[in-house]
Amino acid sequence: MLIRPRRNRVSNAIRNLVQETHLLPQHLVYPLFIIDGQDIKNEIKSLPNVFQLSLDNILLEIKECIDLGIHSFIMFPVVEEKLKDKIASYSYSDDNFYLKAIAVIKKHFPQVCLISDIAMDPYSSDGHDGYVDEFGNINNDATLPILAKMAVAQAKAGFDILGPSDMMDGRIHFIRTALDENGFSNVGIMSYTAKYASAFYGPFRDALDSAPKHGDKKTYQMNPANSQEALIEADLDVVEGADFLMVKPAVHYLDIIQLLKQNYNLPIVAYHVSGEYAMLHAAAKNTWLDYEKSMQETLLSIKRAGADIIISYAAKDFAKLLI
Ligand code: PBG
Repeated sequence: MLIRPRRNRVSNAIRNLVQETHLLPQHLVYPLFIIDGQDIKNEIKSLPNVFQLSLDNILLEIKECIDLGIHSFIMFPVVEEKLKDKIASYSYSDDNFYLKAIAVIKKHFPQVCLISDIAMDPYSSDGHDGYVDEFGNINNDATLPILAKMAVAQAKAGFDILGPSDMMDGRIHFIRTALDENGFSNVGIMSYTAKYASAFYGPFRDALDSAPKHGDKKTYQMNPANSQEALIEADLDVVEGADFLMVKPAVHYLDIIQLLKQNYNLPIVAYHVSGEYAMLHAAAKNTWLDYEKSMQETLLSIKRAGADIIISYAAKDFAKLLI
């Protein structure tokens, strides 16, 4: 036998020499759920070791992440039911605690990268990402001005990158134009390009209490059966001015990650979503899987598929294992 691939696996030193994929804390984004108030740390039952945190605790969490080499955060607001309405008006209100928190975080940690979420669902009495009309349909074009107002308010608040997760058509162009007209041409857009109508968002919706009050999200989020369609979405995002293209979920959509990586030059982001993270913990709790090993393999696989950046609830756990 002339060719023996096992020779390159003989020792740890050799295995390290030939390792092709490297995932570092600098590639990771940690999601934070922020709730109004003080000294709050609410457990999220379906999302082990992730909490709804008040601003004081968010600051402690960010400090811990920075010490682990994680400098980027994607932030989601937990909004009280009484502040929700049909047009998500609290999302751009001057009183919005989520927007006010950004200045405080930036004062403590000017070097961090803060990424927002643009979609109506956390603020919508309908629990949908878009505006629900009198017939119960999601009205695309009526949603765009609301998203633009949200975007400008978030840019004003000090977010570095905005994350439209709503899947309305034309939103990247609409948001980009609104940002530029308001003097925010340096604020980036991380577009949820190929966001699928997935069952794996369940724990996230528990965290924000943001599940749709009626219907599902299939008229705007993509059909899990489709991959060609991701290319249509990506083409649009590129010409509309996106700075990052995201695939979501990640583990079950590795082919889509690879497809976008091979076809586009923008950085590819993968969102290892709540359900994909919760599964690992559920299996580990039953002693069916080793959490640390299966988590490391999961995140590495997402990187290997072509993701430049990974958003994950396991980001801290991954970074800790490198120390
Ligand atoms: C809201 C939004 C969702 C997620 C991120 N932004 C949920 C949804 O679309 O219903 C899911 C993230 C996760 O499951 O971790 N637009």
